[in-house]
Amino acid sequence: MMKAIIFLGPPGAGKGTHAKEVSQILNIPHISTGDIFREHVKNQTDLGIKVKSYLDAGKLVPDEVVWEVVKDRIDKEDCKNGFILDGFPRTILQAEMLEKYLKEKNADIKVIYLDAPDELVIRRLSARRVCKNCGAIYNLISMPPKKDGICDICGGELYQRSDDKPEVIKQRLETYYKETQPLIDYYKNKDIMYTINAEKERGEVLKEILKVINE
Ligand code: AP5
Repeated sequence: MMKAIIFLGPPGAGKGTHAKEVSQILNIPHISTGDIFREHVKNQTDLGIKVKSYLDAGKLVPDEVVWEVVKDRIDKEDCKNGFILDGFPRTILQAEMLEKYLKEKNADIKVIYLDAPDELVIRRLSARRVCKNCGAIYNLISMPPKKDGICDICGGELYQRSDDKPEVIKQRLETYYKETQPLIDYYKNKDIMYTINAEKERGEVLKEILKVINE
């Protein structure tokens, strides 16, 4: 059966960090809409040009643009046994489009909600660094690289995401509360959501996520 795992939560809660780990453990693709858009922006594709201003402003890319990207990706052969969605859905309309698709595939759906307070996510995002080459995620406080500015895994250069500036972080949080938080009740009512306290250290959070997934 197709297993669809959805990571939901505020910016900086740890969706990308844990989705990458779970993807390796379960051997299913990790699909981050944010990563896909950043790659297009970097390569200056038509899609990249279209979405850049939304990312820079901390606003959501329009639903129909996002759904086209997601549908195209989850239709691929490597997703037939399952996949992890990180950063999608982010609006009720996105959730409805996904649900219709997954119903047709008879998929098993679990939503992992990583819950963390604003002060914590602001601190985490301000100290986040990402590898330009392989996308590995670091944190200058909780997970620093062994060598300053260099990725432990591939030796690539680390950079700070342009939307991790204080004013954009603030806007991303506002967008989250307005557009994405309603999904918490939406999934709670469907009884497929599991809330994880994302304030704990990474190993603990991962352990709890795996427990829920293996239930
Ligand atoms: P996206 O890339 O999805 O950004 P986001 O949702 O704001 O999430 P982040 O990637 O910032 O945080 P995260 O939860 O993955 O945290 P991480 O694991 O890195 O989206 C970017 C933009 O794309 C959006 O603003 C929008 O414009 C557009 N977009 C994307 N999807 C869209 C959609 N569906 N619809 C419309 N627009 C869309 O962790 C953060 C830091 O904390 C790291 O440094 C990490 O090392 C550290 N950390 C993590 N866990 C722990 C822990 N337990 N203890 C200590 N440190 C930790």
